[in-house]
Amino acid sequence: MTRVEVKNVWVKYRGARDYALKGVDLEVGEGVVAVIGPTGAGKTTLCKAMAGIIPNMGAYDDFKGDVLVDGVSTKGMKVGEISKKIAMVFQDYESQLFRTTVELEVAFGPENLMLQREEIEERCKKSLKAAGLEGLEKRYSFALSGGQKQRLAIASLLSLQPTLLVLDEATSDLDPAGKREIYEVAKGLMEREVIKSLVLVDHHLEKVAAFADTVVVMKDGRIIKTGDVEEVMSEVDLLKNLGLHPPDTVEVFGHITPSEKPYPLSLDEALSRMPKVARANPPPSPKLNSGEPAIMLEDIWFSYQKDDWIIKGLGLVVRKGEIMGLIGQNGSGKTTLAQLIAGILKPARGKVVVFGRDMTRYGVMIRGKEIGYIFQNPDYQIFSNTVREEVSYGLKAAGLPPHEIDARVKQVSETLGISNLLEEDPFFLNKADRQRIAVASILVLNPKVIILDEPTTGLSPGETTALMNTVVELNKQGTTIITITHDMWVVARYCDRVVLMADGKIILDGPTRQVFSDHEFLERYDIEVPTVVKLSRQLAGHTYLTVDEFLQNVEFQTG
Ligand SMILES: Nc1ncnc2c1ncn2[C@@H]1O[C@H](COP(=O)(O)OP(=O)(O)OP(=O)(O)O)[C@@H](O)[C@H]1O
Ligand SMILES: [Mg+2]
Repeated sequence: MTRVEVKNVWVKYRGARDYALKGVDLEVGEGVVAVIGPTGAGKTTLCKAMAGIIPNMGAYDDFKGDVLVDGVSTKGMKVGEISKKIAMVFQDYESQLFRTTVELEVAFGPENLMLQREEIEERCKKSLKAAGLEGLEKRYSFALSGGQKQRLAIASLLSLQPTLLVLDEATSDLDPAGKREIYEVAKGLMEREVIKSLVLVDHHLEKVAAFADTVVVMKDGRIIKTGDVEEVMSEVDLLKNLGLHPPDTVEVFGHITPSEKPYPLSLDEALSRMPKVARANPPPSPKLNSGEPAIMLEDIWFSYQKDDWIIKGLGLVVRKGEIMGLIGQNGSGKTTLAQLIAGILKPARGKVVVFGRDMTRYGVMIRGKEIGYIFQNPDYQIFSNTVREEVSYGLKAAGLPPHEIDARVKQVSETLGISNLLEEDPFFLNKADRQRIAVASILVLNPKVIILDEPTTGLSPGETTALMNTVVELNKQGTTIITITHDMWVVARYCDRVVLMADGKIILDGPTRQVFSDHEFLERYDIEVPTVVKLSRQLAGHTYLTVDEFLQNVEFQTG
């Protein structure tokens, strides 16, 4: 049955130049609906309209049309009434957390529903388990890692057991296994009819392919295509033109058997439909960078709370000119390690050497010239009233002359595509823009080492590619790069070397091709390598890191 009916909805935000939604019609029934499209297409606005947030909260110049949930219009409904039925996890999940501890956060919803004590406890326990947060009940929310906070936002809505659950890029900061698990949990709740409908927004089309029944493609405030998941995913050109990243199996089959649509969406199906391999060239053997060390860490120990060691005797050498990917489960210590390198945190024991100088005792002010750190949440970094002020702040602090500041700001803004935003207030921009502003404010300083802490969350694959291409350019000019990410395709495509962290230690360290060749080992640490890597291991016995590499090196038998 139809749960949500979106009827010719038009939305114009207060002061906006154009409509964010331009006559959207959609019906959501029992299956999982995924909404995909480039940044700014209107996905979040559509979600908010379905969740009753629009037009009941916020300011609009215009709202037309209607949204019916179980046949009742959401217009004029009180937030309390709506939240009994619909829950939405925001892209900007930290804004959703407002209580002090993990258990209070999760209990908040059920408490407001006036449920019995035992029922509340039961729901909280289940939701925390589902979101992988068992054992952290008493923790202050601010003392969680980025991904743990996102898990908490999800848990707090699962505990409401809504009729409709809307997940707007809700797994962006989760480790690869976590992304899958959350969707499995949501689907399991649907199967048990705890929730009736599920709407997902996700740039990760392999996840969409694995979980959605129907896919809605948006662009410029309109729905431009709706169809079964197999059908939409086979529109490789459409997806690519929108800056989206089709599943690896789809891209491979789009090349080798273009006329045989729909293309396979899973590894197993791809393997069974794959023509016989005639020849597979071995990829170049991985080379280790033996250059001069940029950063050396020796026996680093760190704790936020006394005796609760988060980093445990860690040693690491990052060499000049490397692009290193730092990966690991949520809470494994990646952000902590990055902040120890940048001098934001100080180790209890151990040594931090930067370009040959012992920097252990110097903080971020001294280290800032050498190392630029871009926060996981750009909002921790952004504090100015205009984008221009924000991006030029560090240059002003360094005492550069105004003409040079202007020139650098101009150049970096152009590279990152934010020139048109320079006079805007960052506070009113979307997360992808704020992410790029945070990156810009570090890039202008031209540090020798740049640490990007999950720079691609909130960005579409097209924007991610643009950002990483900029990073690669900087690297070619000599900048050493450390990037923390849960997007393994980003690691596969751009990083020479991968370091895997688990529980405050380094578990594996080597050239990307070598590390990714042991995907079974990585899975123990919740890392899932790109599907094309698994496909190439099984099919050709080699590790090709990207679809392009696969297609260039594998020849198939004809006839
Ligand atoms: N301010 C804090 N106080 C206490 N514990 C903290 C604090 N910040 C982080 N932690 C804990 O330290 C551990 C490492 O956190 P960290 O943020 O470094 O993880 P991460 O690998 O970056 O995770 P994610 O992938 O989720 O961003 C986690 O168990 C986390 O809960
Ligand atoms: Mg982190």
